[in-house]
Amino acid sequence: MASPVQKGQELELQIDSLAYGGNGVARLNGFVVFVRGGLPGDRVRARVTKTKRGFAEATAEAVLEPSPVRVAAPCRHFGVCGGCRFQDLAYEAQLEAKEQQVRDALVRIGRIAEPPLEPIVPASSQYGYRNKLEYSFTQGEAGVELGFHRAGRWDEVVGIEECLLTTDLGNAVRLAVRDWAREEGLEPYDQETGEGYLRHLVYREGRNTGQALVMLVTAPGERFEPGYLVDVLRRFEQVRSINWAVNDTPAERTNVPWKLLWGEDAIEEEILGLRFRLRPNAFMQTNTEMAERLYALAREYAALTGAENVFDLYCGTGTIGLALAGGAKAVWGVEISEESVACAIENAELNGIENASFFAGNVGQSLEELVSEAGRADVVVVDPPRAGLAGKALRRTGELGAEKIVYISCNPTTLASDVQVLRDDFGYELIRCRPVDMFPHTPHVESVSLLERTELL
Ligand SMILES: C[S@@+](CC[C@H](N)C(=O)[O-])C[C@H]1O[C@@H](n2cnc3c(N)ncnc32)[C@H](O)[C@@H]1O
Repeated sequence: MASPVQKGQELELQIDSLAYGGNGVARLNGFVVFVRGGLPGDRVRARVTKTKRGFAEATAEAVLEPSPVRVAAPCRHFGVCGGCRFQDLAYEAQLEAKEQQVRDALVRIGRIAEPPLEPIVPASSQYGYRNKLEYSFTQGEAGVELGFHRAGRWDEVVGIEECLLTTDLGNAVRLAVRDWAREEGLEPYDQETGEGYLRHLVYREGRNTGQALVMLVTAPGERFEPGYLVDVLRRFEQVRSINWAVNDTPAERTNVPWKLLWGEDAIEEEILGLRFRLRPNAFMQTNTEMAERLYALAREYAALTGAENVFDLYCGTGTIGLALAGGAKAVWGVEISEESVACAIENAELNGIENASFFAGNVGQSLEELVSEAGRADVVVVDPPRAGLAGKALRRTGELGAEKIVYISCNPTTLASDVQVLRDDFGYELIRCRPVDMFPHTPHVESVSLLERTELL
């Protein structure tokens, strides 16, 4: 449909639902307008920012009639900080919207008329749930600040006094590093000019162990006294590992070479009774409590009997594979990050698990070799990044011919298109799918799906 609206035009719109990604959805005589800042049930005045064939995008400039599901956001930084977009939407309505997004994707993209969707699993904690936070340094009026990107801006950072997604300890550590930076007279790095020094602070906390890890990321050069930073952080007895990383690229990254300044080279987290070592950059689900729910669901869907050969693709530090190993004959993990694979091997040893092996490789390119080593897979677990089973990974996974695929997804749209190909080209049927809310107040939605091979194509 050609756009009936123009860029810059002001519209009055009724928001019906939330699209995947977090924008409100309104319809003008059937023409869809995605409205940033509009919540389901709101009547808003919005300005059109973009028009495309078939839809337009707009930004809400005023809420004319607030939705009955709007609530007061508890965070003092809400609206300015880009971290939590939906603190002002009642939690029940957030859950409903996320469940609907998974259903819509499976219907529209997966072409499943009635998806076998189970009710979304709500988060056990709506606040304080993150075990990892990455802050940026910036210059504020009172001096150096540590915070997050301003809502809708990649080039501006707002200082944070209290973040409701971390713990009291996490807030205290961040404020201590900020005060240290002010005392030391160090300057924040300026993303635009490339000048300055302090870039990021990474904070990780084993939520079931109480251990914390801190990593400072700077531009090149040793412009501070490491011993004094260590003294400042050692005031927190939970801090077990203090690290310093140097990012000499213009890119805003924290995944860069680092060195240990003090303490252990890794901290531990406990998930489903297993211990996992955590280093500064290795992947770990950022909500420990809900990772346990997610993995327990994967275990339920896999329904192992002890006789199965299980492939854990995109295995990260081996968390899912190791959680399944007790019920399997053998587990074989594949992961692209060598650092994560090293952690996975270490984690297997730490837990005395002898039937799990982990390999560094790209899923799209290494499955043939894996089959020659491991033999045929009975159950394949995949947990890919947002792009889904990208490149050759989808066809290679289908070609494995396993009885079951347990698909953990952080993006319902790529899940749905992968499910459609696995059905049409490889004979898999979607049997169960359950969304899980790992990230309250954000647009993210995770899900676990079970696919079974019903016919040999
Ligand atoms: C969503 S994480 C899942 C990690 C793990 N299953 C867990 O729950 O902790 C996705 C993982 O896929 C890895 N990855 C990304 N692309 C890959 C590829 N092409 N082949 C293998 N692994 C890949 C990432 O490094 C990351 O560890």
